[in-house]
Amino acid sequence: MISSGQIIHQRRSLVACDGRTSVPAPRFFRMLERVMPRAERPVAERPMPWDAIPWAPAIHLGLFVHRVDGIEPGLYALARDPAKLDKLEGAMHPHFSWEVPPDCPAQLPLFLLERGDARAVATQVSCRQDIAGDGAFSLGMLAEYRSALVAHGPPFYRRLFREAGLIGQVLYLEAEAAGVRSTGIGCFFDDPVHHVFGFRDLEFQSLYHFTVGGPVDDPRLTTLPPYKRDRS
Ligand SMILES: Cc1cc2nc3c(=O)[nH]c(=O)nc-3n(C[C@H](O)[C@H](O)[C@H](O)COP(=O)(O)O)c2cc1C
Repeated sequence: MISSGQIIHQRRSLVACDGRTSVPAPRFFRMLERVMPRAERPVAERPMPWDAIPWAPAIHLGLFVHRVDGIEPGLYALARDPAKLDKLEGAMHPHFSWEVPPDCPAQLPLFLLERGDARAVATQVSCRQDIAGDGAFSLGMLAEYRSALVAHGPPFYRRLFREAGLIGQVLYLEAEAAGVRSTGIGCFFDDPVHHVFGFRDLEFQSLYHFTVGGPVDDPRLTTLPPYKRDRS
């Protein structure tokens, strides 16, 4: 069994995806379970690292699933706070189906919105970066935006990014542990993302994208170890 220390030390961002590698659905569900803060619990009793975020979770995932064995390709949504599901559903396209994927764990609020090949649209909204369509799945982190900023004031903007960054860090490690790789995607077109999911106003705002898939090394680049192992 690989230790978490080893995973943390070996993690690197992928620079390209092979367009082939898939992830089994149980592994995909597990990765998503790890970004669930269990918002129904008091903050101190939430699983690590979510006990370090003292506010109610405000970031949900809009997923572009391409190659997850056992579930259909298409658009999916993960409500990281199940209490916000109605709000999310009300803000998205009314024609979305909100179907529970087969064998999805009961505690995971993951829904199929629309089945179909989402590779081209995922690439398009992520600044036409192939990594968003060639992976097993990619996603946009959809923040509860306008009402959260009105309620908590402008400093909450920074907090939203902190929450998004932490989701990214968890996914980086989960992808590495699953034998695939991932990368944060800071370049994306937010208005087209909103169009894909049906957002009509600024109640939700895409803040950060992410992709997970089979990595392809670029031989033109030299990859150094991410950390100095020997610090003695
Ligand atoms: C916030 C953030 C945004 C990023 N945006 C992109 C992106 O749009 N496209 C891309 O190919 N890589 C993107 N990356 C990956 C970085 O290029 C990568 O993390 C960086 O080169 C350091 O490599 P490492 O993660 O292996 O240490 C992003 C990473 C982060 C953390």
